[in-house]
Amino acid sequence: MSNEAQSNPESNGLSNLLSEDRSFPPSEVFAAGANADAGWYSRAEADRDAFWGEQARRLSWETDFSRVVDWSGAPFAKWFVGGKLNVAYNCVDRHVEAGHGDQVAIHWVGEPGDTRDITYGQLKDEVCRAANALVSLGVGSGDRVAIQLPMIPEAIVAMLACARIGALHSVVFGGFSPAALRSRVDDAQARVVITSDGQFRRGKAAPMKANVDEALAGAESVRTVVVVRRTGDEVPMDPARDVWWHELVEGQPVQHTPEAFDAEHPLFILYTSGTTGKPKGILHTSGGYLTQVAYTHHVVFDHKPGQDVYWCTADIGWVTGHSYIVYGPLANRATQVVYEGTPNTPHEGRHWEIIQNYKVSIYYTAPTLIRTFMKWGEQIPAGYDLSSLRVLGSVGEPINPEAWMWYREHIGAGKTPIVDTWWQTETGAIMISPLPGVTATKPGSAQKPLPGISAKVVDDTGTEVGPGGGGYLVLDKPWPAMLRGIWGDEQRYRETYWSRFAEQGYYFAGDGAKYDADGDIWLLGRVDDVMNVSGHRISTTEVESALVSHPTVAEAAVVGATDPTTGQGIVAFVILRGNAAETGEQAVQELRNHVAKEIGPIAKPRQIMIVPELPKTRSGKIMRRLLRDVAENRQIGDVTTLADSAVMDLISQGLKTGK
Ligand code: WTA
Repeated sequence: MSNEAQSNPESNGLSNLLSEDRSFPPSEVFAAGANADAGWYSRAEADRDAFWGEQARRLSWETDFSRVVDWSGAPFAKWFVGGKLNVAYNCVDRHVEAGHGDQVAIHWVGEPGDTRDITYGQLKDEVCRAANALVSLGVGSGDRVAIQLPMIPEAIVAMLACARIGALHSVVFGGFSPAALRSRVDDAQARVVITSDGQFRRGKAAPMKANVDEALAGAESVRTVVVVRRTGDEVPMDPARDVWWHELVEGQPVQHTPEAFDAEHPLFILYTSGTTGKPKGILHTSGGYLTQVAYTHHVVFDHKPGQDVYWCTADIGWVTGHSYIVYGPLANRATQVVYEGTPNTPHEGRHWEIIQNYKVSIYYTAPTLIRTFMKWGEQIPAGYDLSSLRVLGSVGEPINPEAWMWYREHIGAGKTPIVDTWWQTETGAIMISPLPGVTATKPGSAQKPLPGISAKVVDDTGTEVGPGGGGYLVLDKPWPAMLRGIWGDEQRYRETYWSRFAEQGYYFAGDGAKYDADGDIWLLGRVDDVMNVSGHRISTTEVESALVSHPTVAEAAVVGATDPTTGQGIVAFVILRGNAAETGEQAVQELRNHVAKEIGPIAKPRQIMIVPELPKTRSGKIMRRLLRDVAENRQIGDVTTLADSAVMDLISQGLKTGK
């Protein structure tokens, strides 16, 4: 269900970014102590392989690699050929062996106010116990383990335990519905599912295990469900399948010898939305992924182990949680805050209170949250001591200059560098970002590919555009943390990312972008049918399929409409079947709940409009551009390619009269 309308990157209302001309050079003091300097760009440019070979030295290799990259099987890359390492050993054991066992790895803050500090020494014991526990369940190298857990330490322990024994984890966001969990479990043929009794959300305990039970009814691949006790709510346990985490893990020995795996051994699968209804299982491997997440965490956040207190507010259900809560920071021996709950529980100053209490120095969050903080008012952060902060980061969607400036002024005391980091589930790690202490930052621009990374903005024919020009963002050289495919679907991998600019051999990111006069990159949002709602990727097709799966719906079209807080909001246009018993508000409520049930609450449409017709081209393609005009209350654009040009009048009139 392609549509020509969304493929114009300049039509999405972000082009006003280009009138932004403020720039903030780094302070001399910051620059003098920064982890990177401008020379890194030229060094990487001069010899890319040597540069990445050097970055790989951040890790401890059991067997050294003989070659940096083998791209002869493109688009399937092999990085650090012949090298062997254990990812969990790199994230935990080696820090303990180097004498840092007493350093806090995780300051965990529970939503109800309970806290736990976990040192690297304790983390090592926990990961070893959990690894032994998984082995006792028969999990081995190459097996898949699905994890649906809230933001509790066991989530990180479970991921590292999988990595330690060479099993792949597939983390499923806690907010996903049973149906969404089931399709991921089936696709990966997961053998074990790790979950919890429930989770705390906005001050209340919500069930989790009950959803997992619903999801797994009849799931043949699953032998065992491991349940972490978190809320203490009573849950039914199936004695043939279910086991409590504490009963399984606590009795296990704390000794576990890590096995070294090949650099290309699969590390995890993470599902993300594509342009069709079926989520893609993005596959990442070990050596290249860990190298790039460690490198980027070091230079982009200017992270200093033993000094900084780092906090990434993402959920481990998303790639940001994988790369910048689990693997990058732990590989770099970070001390980090992990917070379980929502930012306004029990009050709207919760994040600032945590920063004050733990003296957080690096804070990494999403534009949607920054805009929410703006809405709540600057007097809230002003009530806390945020002077420990020295680097601020943003990820997930384009950050508008207003939000960027507010972040800098009200959270960063008007001086903290802001790194706007562009990357994707598929890229595994940060690709385009300023470097603090090096780059003069610009509000709203991710600016430059990192040293070692190459990206271009090209036109329809794959030719690079000049300064001031706009088009499509492509990655024209392989990078260590790149995806190694889509789980079980080689063809889809080739088609989705490598067919658009096949001739040039470019990776097509699906984002629109522009160069400014200095050649800096400004991201302009997706150019495909993927929406970005509060930094979550949701495909229009996925929501459409959920809607048409309801017995009253004949046809549905979904668009992402600009939203002041969430970036985009989901707006659905629905044609009901003639026999639909309910119409109007009741039908709309029913459908919103239906989508939440099918996909998860994050996919609930902001608005559902019941319409008599949908605008289509003569070849039958839905013209989402026109529907976006309606959703955004704009004058309706060019309708000349419509098969029936009266349709838009019909829709607009129907909406006015509420029919
Ligand atoms: C968008 C999240 C502009 C983009 C790490 C990309 C951004 C998609 C930025 C990936 C940014 C992420 N500026 N857009 N700094 N960061 N995006 O896979 O459209 O959840 O393609 O990975 O988010 O989302 P994903």
